[in-house]
Amino acid sequence: MKKITIAIDGFSSTGKSTLAKQLANHLEYVYVDTGAMYRAVALLAMQNGYINAESFDTQTLINSLPNIKLQFKFNPDLGFAEMYLNDVNVETEIRTIEVSSFVSKVAEVSEVRTKLVEQQKEMGKDKAIVMDGRDIGTVVFPDAELKIFMTASASTRAQRRYDELVKKGDAVTFDEVLANVEERDYIDTHRKDSPLVMAEDAIEIDNSHLNREEQFDVVLQLVNEITKTI
Ligand code: DC
Repeated sequence: MKKITIAIDGFSSTGKSTLAKQLANHLEYVYVDTGAMYRAVALLAMQNGYINAESFDTQTLINSLPNIKLQFKFNPDLGFAEMYLNDVNVETEIRTIEVSSFVSKVAEVSEVRTKLVEQQKEMGKDKAIVMDGRDIGTVVFPDAELKIFMTASASTRAQRRYDELVKKGDAVTFDEVLANVEERDYIDTHRKDSPLVMAEDAIEIDNSHLNREEQFDVVLQLVNEITKTI
């Protein structure tokens, strides 16, 4: 079967990564979670004190970019690749609410985006890739054969995220998670560089009322139709 590029964009906590992982496993494609890359840069900025609740030293972060090494390493036990920041596995640390609260600000910095987009394009040059994020269909792979744009209401998404965090033992409230989801939506859609917009040729999927199997079936059908025609 012909290999294609699949770009999945959408708001936070719409289940993009769940769908992307299912597709990649099924099709034997590479899966890349670009949010993890922005999260890793945000974690580094936090760890080094470049960003905190009061301030963000953008310039120092920009100066340190050449020394930031981001890699994905496949974990066969988990069935997906984990994020490494400067050779350290940060897969767990990048998913905390603290990182979530800073990551959109870090992702607004054009120099950060340029570095990460360059690395993402390189990862996709041989196709057979499923990449999820905010600008994949518009900036990273504007020629992707399949572009999906995922949506769901803010409260549905906050509930999913809240359940995930509670399961991991994080002490958060639903209102805190909802506020974070809404704040990130606002920043992601209003930033100057590569705001979250649906590509003209993307297919919108609102999964507020779809379970993960139903959603997977819808998208797999699209993949099959596309690979038949090219
Ligand atoms: O998908 P996520 O919630 O893990 O993404 C974390 C943040 O990174 C999110 O607030 C937006 C940003 N992001 C981005 O700007 N561009 C991408 N391609 C992926 C994520």
